[in-house]
Amino acid sequence: MRENFPWWRSGILYQIYPRSFQDSNGDGVGDLRGIIARLSYLRELGVDALWLSPIFPSPMEDFGYDISDYTGVDPLFGTLADFDALVAAAHDLGLKVILDLVPNHTSDQHPWFIESRSSKDNPKRDWYIWRDGRGEGAPPNNWLSEFGGSSWEFDERTGQYYYHAFLRTQPDLNWRNPDVRRAMHDVMRFWLRRGVDGFRVDVMWHLIKDDLLRDNPPNPDFAPGRQPYERLIPLYSTDRPEVHAVVAEMREVIDEFDDRVLIGEIYLPPEKLVAYYGRDLTGAHLPFNFALISTPWNAQAVAKLIDGYEAALPPAAWPNWVLGNHDRQRIASRVGHDQARVAAMLLLTLRGTPTLYYGDEIGMPQVKIPPDRVRDPWEKNLPGIGVGRDGCRTPMQWDSTPHGGFSAGEPWLPLDKNSARENVTAERQDATSMLSLYRALIDLRRTKPELALGAYRPVSVTNELLVFEREHQGQRLLVALNLGAASVATAIRLRGRVLLSTFMDRQAETVDGRLELRSAEGIVLEPLA
Ligand code: GLC
Repeated sequence: MRENFPWWRSGILYQIYPRSFQDSNGDGVGDLRGIIARLSYLRELGVDALWLSPIFPSPMEDFGYDISDYTGVDPLFGTLADFDALVAAAHDLGLKVILDLVPNHTSDQHPWFIESRSSKDNPKRDWYIWRDGRGEGAPPNNWLSEFGGSSWEFDERTGQYYYHAFLRTQPDLNWRNPDVRRAMHDVMRFWLRRGVDGFRVDVMWHLIKDDLLRDNPPNPDFAPGRQPYERLIPLYSTDRPEVHAVVAEMREVIDEFDDRVLIGEIYLPPEKLVAYYGRDLTGAHLPFNFALISTPWNAQAVAKLIDGYEAALPPAAWPNWVLGNHDRQRIASRVGHDQARVAAMLLLTLRGTPTLYYGDEIGMPQVKIPPDRVRDPWEKNLPGIGVGRDGCRTPMQWDSTPHGGFSAGEPWLPLDKNSARENVTAERQDATSMLSLYRALIDLRRTKPELALGAYRPVSVTNELLVFEREHQGQRLLVALNLGAASVATAIRLRGRVLLSTFMDRQAETVDGRLELRSAEGIVLEPLA
């Protein structure tokens, strides 16, 4: 079934946050050797590719999203030799490896920035975005940092400001400079030659800013309590038309190699997001679709979202879906444990490449972090308004030992209080656990081309019941999801065989009539003639 399709179409991606997956040396922080030791778990789960959040040398102000050397491995995670061993071991198991590429900004400790800030006539000055202020103490314009405050930092030495979309220790590169582009393309080639199967490009929609640096307009919908970044509409600082040429060039580099994938991190509404597929699909293969992460959890809203996204896709563009990542609240806490099972079925039965976030497959919650254990710089900048990301980055829960089998030492973030009960080892032994459900869903997706490749057809949305169909070469499957707390039945009569229930207790049941679903139940049904 896979033959005529690139692997990333029928495949399932799995995001690893390396600090929190598996520690092999007892320092409380996960590492590459740890990931190697857990590859067999990923194989058993049935995913096709792992994407690693950044592993490169970094002062770790933003936990690796502040890179000081693009072609090395931070000693915290291991060595380049460990990385090569990881790629080899993953490939041996048939797993692809995707790296995080962070081209929008570097660390302020990167040699490029150190040079750039050293003088106004340094050859690397123009590698970053330097401008004079608008007057005494006033930055060049009103743009805000996503992490709070002005996005301009005054640099005493040369009397100019530099732009940073995130922390002040994360200066933005100037993508209008061809030397910057060339340097980053060479970074890509460095890793592609080492065998990586593609990149997830960090904040792709931020890459190019308005050449006139026009002020961003105020956001009329801003309400107190929202994060300060939302005071303005980032009209001139993000999603500029020129970005698509930048992405197309990255894609050309990807296409110098066989079978690699280009994924973009982009937080934009569907109609703007899909532009990142590029003209004639010469952009990102998969502009990440994060809509499920923030859409209210009810059948109407989810149905509307799916239909809107499907309708916005350019012809022949391949969709994708994401339920969680290292920046957003965990699904199990957002919708509750029962509905998280429905969400898993949705993710793995929709049309498009699914991305799983480590730990979601065992139902890991958003962990409450005591104030003295907060590590996220965003939370430290803007305490108490709910922007903290530590809670979705806690160590993977492997077993019931004190540190969850994650580390022999004290972990960098606390584990969830229920980790002694909710962990891989316990859930492996429980035929109805979240892990067993994920495995069954992945199995189904692997064996049923309708799910992996088939067309999507909405069937009905009534109350909290969402019903859709997937069809491939004349074969159909029906998916019915109850996003509500009351039991429901389909309005239409059906004849079919239950392939899977989120409760995992109705396999092989035949249905002849209206299909009844319990509270928070999802069902995949194979229609019978
Ligand atoms: C992306 C990353 C996030 C990081 C930010 C700045 O959004 O996912 O973790 O803080 O970029 O690099």
